[in-house]
Order: sequence, then C-alpha cells, then structure tokens
Amino acid sequence: MTAPDDSRATTSSPGSGGDESQPWLRLAQGYEQARSKEDSLDRLVEWPAQRDLLGDVGGLSVLDVGCGNGAKLAELVRDGATASVGVDISGNFPAGPTPGMELVRGDLSDLESVPGLADRRFDRILFLQTIGYADDPVRTLRVARTMLAPDGFVLLTRTHPIRWAVERAEQNGTTLGEEYYSTAPYTYYHRGWDDRVALTKHGYTLADLLNLFSAAGFRVEAAVEPQLSEDARRRYPHKQAWMNKHLGILIFKLLPVA
Ligand SMILES: C[S@@+](CC[C@H](N)C(=O)[O-])C[C@H]1O[C@@H](n2cnc3c(N)ncnc32)[C@H](O)[C@@H]1O
Repeated sequence: MTAPDDSRATTSSPGSGGDESQPWLRLAQGYEQARSKEDSLDRLVEWPAQRDLLGDVGGLSVLDVGCGNGAKLAELVRDGATASVGVDISGNFPAGPTPGMELVRGDLSDLESVPGLADRRFDRILFLQTIGYADDPVRTLRVARTMLAPDGFVLLTRTHPIRWAVERAEQNGTTLGEEYYSTAPYTYYHRGWDDRVALTKHGYTLADLLNLFSAAGFRVEAAVEPQLSEDARRRYPHKQAWMNKHLGILIFKLLPVA
C-alpha cells in the first residue's frame, strides 16, 4: 500500500452512510490497518526514507500535519523529539495521554486556528501525504512557514503524479500524457482502505508542486524518490512490480526563503 495524498474527499457511494463531507472519519482506521501490514509501501519504502531525511531529532520539536493515529510522531518522540504536536482531522488517536506529545483534532486548511498551535514554533514540520487535502495548499504552507523555528525545515511528501496518470490512462484507454496534464477531477476508491468511500482527486504535475513551494516561500533543499531495498525487492516482488509501474512517492525537504 502506498499513501495517496492528493484527494479532496467529497463523496461516498450511495447508501454507504457516514459523513460524506469528511470521508477520513470513515477511512482512518482502514488506512492505519493497511499501513501497518508487513508489506505496506509506507513501512517498506516511505517511512524509512522520511525518517532518514529527518535525521537526528533529539531535542527538536516536531509538528506532524495530518498525523493519522500519531504512530510516526510517537516514534520520533521515542527518538528524542520534544514538545511535539500531531494534528489530524480524523481524531483517530489512541485512547489516553500520549507521553511527550499532543495529538489534536484539527483541519490543516485552518492550521492557525488549531487549538494549541498559536504562537508555537517547530523545528520540523511534516506534511506526509497530506498537503493535497488543503483547500488552499499555498495558504497552508505559508502558515506552516510562520510556525518554523530558525533553522527549521518542512518535510513534505506527495504521491508521484505519474501514478495517477498511469491508472487513469488504463481506465480511460487514453495516454500517459493526456492524463498527466488533465485537470479534470476524478473519483477514486482505495480498495486497501475502504472501497465504499470515494475521494475526489485533482491532478497535478511536477511543475505544479515546484510552483506551490515557491509561492509559499520555500525552496527545495533536497528531493528523493525512494525505492525498495534489495532485500525488500526479493521478499516482496509484487511490491516491486507495483513500483515499476506506479513509481511511488516524492519527498521534498523544504527550506524557507529568507
Ligand atoms: C494518506 S493519510 C497520511 C497519514 C500520515 N501522515 C502518514 O504518513 O502515514 C492522510 C491523513 O490526512 C488526514 N487528513 C485528511 N484531510 C485532513 C484535513 N483537512 N486536516 C487534517 N488532516 C487531514 C487524514 O485523516 C489522514 O490521517
């Protein structure tokens, strides 16, 4: 499983029930179950690469925007991060207190209004497969920029846009280029999470991503396209086959422009 991030979730299938404007209230548990599987691409590829780019977090404060159940943030806190906060719209958090960190229900489209974030500064701000859910991604990244401590950086990941172009070209009998450059929204059901919940996706190109970062006042310090290790390729050939076709995710380390 990889973690598609670029869905503006708006509808669910007829008769499926639930809050149709908030599909992550229904998707959250299925997502976490899929993520925790032994052969999930998040476990095998994405999180190891994200963790590697974060480096030593000892004594650093981390804000994880769209933190899911907070498991990644909890690992960073175990590795020494302090005064850290996770924000997620689903509120799918462990019961009881989470030592060393706060988990807050909130909307990344309105980050400055999330309880407890006003006037806070963080050494690392994470958008791991989440910026695509912002109503206005430039605005959200600009707000995050104001929350960065001196020498801080943002770590942001997004699904490689080629992934969507490949899938849609297959579905529609079109070409890669047509779909890569298409701006038409489309509906997507993730079979591994909950195939009754629809997410409405909006296409983007690599240029769109780079222009987003510039517009929000960031520059790319490093970009990574993580791959399976040799060992994981041997153990999970079906995942390598998936990566060969869909490419995976992009990871960006973003520094604020002075
Ligand atoms: C693909 S998951 C990624 C979770 C986690 N960052 C990770 O890397 O495993 C997307 C997450 O974004 C959250 N999310 C979606 N829309 C959101 C919003 N408007 N504000 C805050 N969180 C949101 C979802 O609840 C979900 O936990």
